[in-house]
Amino acid sequence: MVRKWSLLLLLQLLLCPRPARPSSPLPLVLHTWPFKNATEAAWRTLASGGSALDAVEAGCAQCEREQCDGTVGFGGSPDESGETTLDAMIMDGTTMDVGAVGDLRRVKNAVGVARKVLEHTTHTLLVGESATKFAESMGFVNEDLSTDASRALHSDWLAQSCQPNCWRNVTPDPSKYCGPYKPPSILKQDGSAYKETGDNYGHDTIGMVVIHKTGHTAAGTSTNGLKFKIPGRVGDSPIPGAGAYADDAAGAAAATGDGDIMMRFLPSYQAVEYMRRGESPTVACQKVISRIQKYFPKFFGAVICANVTGSYGAACNKLPAFTQFRFMVSNSLTNQPKEERVNCI
Ligand SMILES: *[C@@H]1O[C@H](CO)[C@@H](O)[C@H](O)[C@H]1NC(C)=O
Ligand SMILES: *[C@@H]1O[C@H](CO)[C@@H](O)[C@H](O)[C@H]1NC(C)=O
Repeated sequence: MVRKWSLLLLLQLLLCPRPARPSSPLPLVLHTWPFKNATEAAWRTLASGGSALDAVEAGCAQCEREQCDGTVGFGGSPDESGETTLDAMIMDGTTMDVGAVGDLRRVKNAVGVARKVLEHTTHTLLVGESATKFAESMGFVNEDLSTDASRALHSDWLAQSCQPNCWRNVTPDPSKYCGPYKPPSILKQDGSAYKETGDNYGHDTIGMVVIHKTGHTAAGTSTNGLKFKIPGRVGDSPIPGAGAYADDAAGAAAATGDGDIMMRFLPSYQAVEYMRRGESPTVACQKVISRIQKYFPKFFGAVICANVTGSYGAACNKLPAFTQFRFMVSNSLTNQPKEERVNCI
């Protein structure tokens, strides 16, 4: 009897070879906002044998070429002078090596330059014109990042008396007039330490996390930053622990939103630390958001988190015009880019 059953079983196995159901969700690609082609680019890179770092670079670079939502890559978010500048980072969670660029000018592939900082220097972050010089020495093309779209954004802004802008406690009154601004002779604090910008919800930085099937982690970001920023402003994206963080011993995370606020809380680092202490990715993300909420209840922001066994989650701060955060995931269970949504808290 037993023999007969085993024989049948053997026959069944031979005749109907069913693919074994993957026991692990790894590898995992997870990133902010529904930029599907970026998910695909990262996933393809893993499928063709690339490392977690390669996948993060390929995913972010896809968004730079596609100018995802006008907030990644060239031709978006002009600063006060009309120029588009880029911030990007890439982090290897196995070696804890990081490469990043801030206020990068006239080079399109910011995450590619960040990768070169990681691979070919002992530094972590290069900024401004000097980062451009470094990029040129690494073979990147120096070219204008402005487009008709970014020039139009900038001229509309000038026509609207430079509203909104990022100044406070200066003269002339920045809520009514363009600069140049100076500190007033008598400093009257305008009290409002932070204003909701209102029109920025739903599009921002790409922040990406990849967990390789071997458990190796990587994270990265790419953005053209805040519209009408003061030249020289660098956001959270290229700051390790703020824009993204990865550590094979715990997991990886990435953040998006009001970088000027969020970078003060190192949300990605904090999320990884919560996971290290045993929190699930979802709870880790939520705890990070509620910490910032205590100080800035109206901040715009979201965090994505993944642990090394491939569980993932996200959280966002609820605002009247931002109640749900959309992000993308691809793993061995979805096998293709899948959009997910989380309700903000
Ligand atoms: C994504 O890629 C497809 C195929 O190359 C392309 O047709 C589409 O425009 C891309 N999506 C975006 C948002 O650029
Ligand atoms: C990842 O998170 C899931 C869900 O909370 C948990 O079951 C799993 O043990 C975590 N993995 C690690 C390595 O902590």
